[in-house]
Amino acid sequence: MHRREFIKQGTITAASLTVIPTASLFAIKKEKIKLGYIGVGLRGRSHISEGLMRDDIEIVAVCDPQESSLKYCREQFVKAGKPLPKEFTGSLDAYKKLLDIKEIDAIIIASPWQFHYQQAIDAMHAGKYVGCEVIAGITLEEHWDLVKTSELTGMPYMTLENVCYRRDVMAVLNMSRQGLFGELIHFEGGYQHNLRGVLFNDGQHFYGHGVEFGAGALSEAQWRTQFNIDRDGDIYPTHGAGPVLQYANINRGNRFTNLVSFSSKARGLAAYVEELAPGNKNAKLNYKNGDVVTTMINCANGETVMLSHDTHLPRPYSLGFRVQGTKGLWMDVNKSVYIDHQSKNEDEWDGVDDWFKKYDHPLWKKYENKAEGAGHGGMDWFVFNAFVEAVKQQKQTPIDVYDSVTMSVITPLSEKSIAEGNMPQQFPDFTKGKWNSRKNVFALDDSGL
Ligand SMILES: NC(=O)c1ccc[n+]([C@@H]2O[C@H](COP(=O)([O-])OP(=O)(O)OC[C@H]3O[C@@H](n4cnc5c(N)ncnc54)[C@H](O)[C@@H]3O)[C@@H](O)[C@H]2O)c1
Repeated sequence: MHRREFIKQGTITAASLTVIPTASLFAIKKEKIKLGYIGVGLRGRSHISEGLMRDDIEIVAVCDPQESSLKYCREQFVKAGKPLPKEFTGSLDAYKKLLDIKEIDAIIIASPWQFHYQQAIDAMHAGKYVGCEVIAGITLEEHWDLVKTSELTGMPYMTLENVCYRRDVMAVLNMSRQGLFGELIHFEGGYQHNLRGVLFNDGQHFYGHGVEFGAGALSEAQWRTQFNIDRDGDIYPTHGAGPVLQYANINRGNRFTNLVSFSSKARGLAAYVEELAPGNKNAKLNYKNGDVVTTMINCANGETVMLSHDTHLPRPYSLGFRVQGTKGLWMDVNKSVYIDHQSKNEDEWDGVDDWFKKYDHPLWKKYENKAEGAGHGGMDWFVFNAFVEAVKQQKQTPIDVYDSVTMSVITPLSEKSIAEGNMPQQFPDFTKGKWNSRKNVFALDDSGL
């Protein structure tokens, strides 16, 4: 389906009507691109699987200081019958040598959070597109540096926020663009996921066994748990904020103006350790990160956003989305939609199935077979594909550096708000006024970008 046909399908809200001149950055499109990977732990290897399935990608180099990660990674190449990539290892900055490989077009970064900023800055200086896993930087200054470096080098930077491509999230985007919810008023979302079995393990099983973290543990328990000890704020805002950016046209006719955050007491992680291993030293630690961190954000156009970080308590998974306008709303916790005068019964929820079938996003309709089997219900295929297509077409990425830092900077801002007794924090305008005239370019059609 062409962009024009998709737009014709319904009444599109004013904000999204003016469509994308996604200017080509460079002249020559590429049929095939070469990728380098920094960090091939669980997530990096999931992106490796995506790459190995495609004929338009050659993974030429990987970097990881940990032999166990490299070993699993090699097995993936052998199984796929593809040539082994060049390996860089031995130190935390071994990635710098990988960046020296001229023929690499783009870098996928899936290392621990504390390394993303410097690795991305170096990659852009080396002339590479950057596709970086969630969390762009740690401090406010680092987020500004990423913007400045992308502007200076002309290299696109994309946070690989997969939830932007979740099927229901995109169906709701389609519905909102067709005016079903009326004028949008309020959004909710967050990271609400019991991560206790990820934040601790026994050094042998990835999930659900043991109460160790740090050097004696595996995968994210090696490094991520320390953030829960050291920082009190919304330390993972992007799963909720990413989709809201698209619904509310943030940085594209709208922007976040200020936020305030609240943090509950922190009991969940210690209670988990105590239950599994009574008396263990890790049950006595002072975890700084509140169990439920709630952040409220104002938008320039008058909408409000509520984000939640809730990963330390027993709870079923739900990102808690709510998209609400003058004519109706979607809430994903109870999988329900209500549209005034269109829902079956007045003031009663409809199930989402019929609505989502009718308003399935054209991108999902076109590529659902390819996405089948990809991580997180298929959305991982879409986010990876969007990045790869931008590199091949030598275009700006659909989630660009401004969008990326806007999602990620919520962490240091929320931290500061909490540290100052819930004081409001001004949201930086990373676009320096360009948000007024920039247009939303995200998934306007089924082209994959
Ligand atoms: N979007 C999602 O759904 C999703 C899911 C899981 C993880 N993630 C993100 O992916 C990233 C990686 O998470 P993970 O689960 O793969 O963690 P992981 O611990 O399994 O993997 C991290 C890898 O990075 C390597 N590493 C450490 N320091 C490095 C360095 N200086 N240079 C290169 N490699 C280095 C480690 O040895 C390890 O192999 C994080 O940002 C995480 O938040 C996103």
